[in-house]
Amino acid sequence: MPVRSALMTVMVRAADKAARGLKRDFGEVENLQVSKKGPADFVTTADLKAERVLKEELAKARPDYGFLMEESGASGGSGGSEGRRWVVDPLDGTTNFLHGLPHFAISIGLEERGEIVAALIYDPIKDELFHAEKGSGAYLNDRRLRVSGRTRMEDALIGTGIPFKGHGEHGTFAGEVERVSAEVAGVRRWGAASLDLAYVAAGRLDGFWERGLSPWDIAAGALLVREAGGYLTAIDGRPWTLEGDAILAANSYLHKPLSALVLGRKDATKSA
Ligand code: IPD
Ligand code: CA
Ligand code: CA
Repeated sequence: MPVRSALMTVMVRAADKAARGLKRDFGEVENLQVSKKGPADFVTTADLKAERVLKEELAKARPDYGFLMEESGASGGSGGSEGRRWVVDPLDGTTNFLHGLPHFAISIGLEERGEIVAALIYDPIKDELFHAEKGSGAYLNDRRLRVSGRTRMEDALIGTGIPFKGHGEHGTFAGEVERVSAEVAGVRRWGAASLDLAYVAAGRLDGFWERGLSPWDIAAGALLVREAGGYLTAIDGRPWTLEGDAILAANSYLHKPLSALVLGRKDATKSA
């Protein structure tokens, strides 16, 4: 069993507190489905509340760290000499949450000089805590994670995100999914990018690609995938930075062929 560092203990404590609220609110959302207006406003409040709790708890434990949060943007301390800041999505999978689908997560990444050095993704409904620190491996609860060992596209289960109204390039996606789905065992759209990446780290998905994401969707998942032995890059194989909104993650065997399929190229740039 890994000994949890002081830093990870802080992250887990904050996530636990926010998760208790989200779980309670999720129960309420299920009741609100039948109302005409639906639970939209209620969910917005739940989301904001979770962000507030996370911010309070993290700031209490590490007062000099800054924040980049989905709802409140960039704020807070200088992050000291290492420029540390938390990159947080308080509720990833909002549409699932809103519809009573039990698949959503809290995602917390810690950035240090532009690099993610600690990651936590917590799915409160399944009670699955994915976590990683740079150089120390990736874990699901207390179990060490490895990306899948599958080598053939025809055996691979691939995750993605589908553009939705007012968001993303529908035509581009249609071409990508046509090419990928023709070659693989299955394509899934689960609706929470952080968990998609955690599932690549856990070997549940063999690969994942999505465009139009934000730093808080990717930050924690990027470290998890890498610490589990996988590759996470821009879609064409170039290095991913926190500003990059389109990503591709997979094990070392499938990263290059998946990139080639998504891009519709015979060749693909080298896996990073
Ligand atoms: C969304 C989810 C979803 C992805 C969207 C994200 P949200 O985040 O991660 O899977 O396809 O692009 O915006 O809005 O639920 O925090
Ligand atoms: Ca998100
Ligand atoms: Ca969110």
